[in-house]
Amino acid sequence: MTSTVITEIGELTTNDDEIGTLTNAALVIDHDRIVWVGPATSAPDADERLDVGGRAVLPGWVDSHTHLVFAGDRTAEFAARMAGKPYQAGGIAVTVRATRAATDEELAANLRKHIAEAAAQGTTCVETKTGYGLTVADELRAAKIAAQADEVTFLGAHLVPPGGDADSYVDLVCGEMLDAVAQHVGWCDVFCEKGAFDADQSRRVLVAAKERGLGLRVHGNQLAPGPGVRLAVELGAASVDHCTYLSESDVDALAGSDTVATLLPACDLSTRQSLPDARALVDAGATVALASNCNPGSSYTSSMAFCVATAVLQMRMSIDEAVRAATWGGARALRRESGEGAVGVLRVGARADVHVLDAPSATWLAYRPGVPLTHAVWRRGVRVR
Ligand code: NIG
Repeated sequence: MTSTVITEIGELTTNDDEIGTLTNAALVIDHDRIVWVGPATSAPDADERLDVGGRAVLPGWVDSHTHLVFAGDRTAEFAARMAGKPYQAGGIAVTVRATRAATDEELAANLRKHIAEAAAQGTTCVETKTGYGLTVADELRAAKIAAQADEVTFLGAHLVPPGGDADSYVDLVCGEMLDAVAQHVGWCDVFCEKGAFDADQSRRVLVAAKERGLGLRVHGNQLAPGPGVRLAVELGAASVDHCTYLSESDVDALAGSDTVATLLPACDLSTRQSLPDARALVDAGATVALASNCNPGSSYTSSMAFCVATAVLQMRMSIDEAVRAATWGGARALRRESGEGAVGVLRVGARADVHVLDAPSATWLAYRPGVPLTHAVWRRGVRVR
């Protein structure tokens, strides 16, 4: 089979400004691309026909923030947190030890398992990061293994390795480490937060990465107000992720920039922070993405549907805003929302990443929270569920 027409779609969310959301629709997949979108009554023939009986269809989720090159788990830390202990990011060192001790095959298999787990829930495009290696050899190994994901980010500046000195470690990241990993990654990120890297150290890392042609991302304003958002905007980062503690000037800076505010509500719940002020960002005109932040410490879920339901039920996003943020918004954060092979959209020429819900409309993602609603998924034109 080379082409498939998916027809009798009850509600088709395309994220395309001209097409909008269609009812009684159909789309055609040919190899890894969408080749036709329109009313079911005029759908062309294809090698295979699938009648989805009035179900809703969306672009696959675009999860633009995960940390999936890791070994071990942090169940005990999570349980302690639920008993009242604060999250301080120090647990990253626990995962660093387990990751360094794992074989390449173990790390690759764990990543594969999590990408498949996400795909079964409708996630068809995944970014993932290094950051649990923190030596030149371990970060290089993580970057090579991460190539299974759609986008790879270097996060050598995740934490100063235990016993190390921050400025000397930043020298290493900006020099030998970036030289080793740059050809294997598209992006560079830094954890700009008290206890990790300050604004000057973060700037050094990002500038060194930009000089090597990498795109920029920032972990910022996760645990307290701080300089991460301003730095991301100043340096033209594609996204600043977390944004849990924003000042009015941070919101204004994001609204006046091309930097996407990527919100990670599952992480805020798991670390018992407040949820970010999505409403202020959307109302100010900032571009918002939702992502899972799947990692063994602060957010061990791959469920984008959970993030969408949380954004609607607890962050005052509308269904349309939340679904768009978890598809188009993630794509924009990865600069993949336009052109041939775009993700997060369903239009002719886009990648055939399609998510059929066992529901008549996307509203059910929040109306029936916690209920698995994924009916079928195509990733790059291949049916994965
Ligand atoms: O995005 N903030 C820094 N990094 C991860 C946490 C990773 C961990 O706790 O292992 C995050 O939440």
